[in-house]
Amino acid sequence: MEQLQQKLEQCRQAILEAGKRLLVTDEISAEEKTDYTNLVTKYDKATQQFLIDAFSQIMEDATFLCEEEDVADTSGKNVFIIDPIDGTANFTKYYGHSAISVALAREGRLLWGAVYNPFTEDFFEARAGEGAYHNGKCIHVSKDGLKQSLVAFGTSPYYRELRDESFRIALDVMDHALDIRRSGSAALDLCYVACGRCGVFFELQLSAWDFAAGMLIVQEAGGVLTDIHGNTPDFTAKSGIVAGNKAAHQEFIKLYGK
Ligand code: IPD
Ligand code: CA
Ligand code: CA
Repeated sequence: MEQLQQKLEQCRQAILEAGKRLLVTDEISAEEKTDYTNLVTKYDKATQQFLIDAFSQIMEDATFLCEEEDVADTSGKNVFIIDPIDGTANFTKYYGHSAISVALAREGRLLWGAVYNPFTEDFFEARAGEGAYHNGKCIHVSKDGLKQSLVAFGTSPYYRELRDESFRIALDVMDHALDIRRSGSAALDLCYVACGRCGVFFELQLSAWDFAAGMLIVQEAGGVLTDIHGNTPDFTAKSGIVAGNKAAHQEFIKLYGK
C-alpha cells in the first residue's frame, strides 16, 4: 500500500511537470485529424509520450490506452488511460481551460484518477475508496436538484447528428435547470460536478480517456456516472455519459435517458 502511495506521488509529479510544459506562449499550430474542428498539436503528442515514458519507469508492468497515435494496449496489470490534453481546441486559443487526464485501472477496476488544469493549477484527484480532492481539499457533489443546478454539456463539432441532438437536449434542459454551461473539456466538466459547481454533466459520445479519471473523481465525491441508459459505461467503446449528484442525475436520466 505504502509502495503504491509512493508510485502515485511520482505519477502526480510527472503530471505536474507535463503541465508546466503546456504553459507556452509561442504560436500553437494545430493539425487536423478528421476535419478542421478535430485538432491535434505537437503538445498533445509530446505530453502523451512524456507521460508514457514517466509512468513506464514508475510501474514497469504498465500498459497504455491513450487518445493519440493509436496507443491501445490494455493487457497489463496496470493500465493507464490518458488524454494528454482534454480541451485541445481551447488550448490552441490560449483559453486556459484544458487538462491532462490520467486514470489508472488495475484488473478492470479504476484505482486512481487525476485531472490537472495547468493554466489555473487546479489538481483534481481520487483514489478508490479514499475520497476525491481538489488541490488537497476533500470535495463533494452538490445536493441540488436539477432546478437548482448548472448543467454542463459537451459535444464534438465533428459528430453532426450528435451535436444537433445535444443542443436539442441543452435547450430543453434550460426549462428544468438553473442554466447551462459548455466548457470544452469533458474531464474538467466531470470535476466541476465532483466539487459541486455543476449538478449534472452530459455528453452523448465520449471515449474512456475523456471520462475515466473524471468518473472515479465523481464517484469518490459521492456522485454517480452512467451511460445515457443509466448503466455502467463501456470502457472499450464510445459511450454517452451522464454524471451528477444522485438526485439530479436521476432527474436527468428520467427526462432524457434512452
Ligand atoms: C474533447 C473535449 C470536449 C468534448 C469532446 C472531446 P479533446 O476532448 O473533452 O469538451 O466535447 O467530445 O473530444 O478532443 O479536446 O481531447
Ligand atoms: Ca485530447
Ligand atoms: Ca478529450
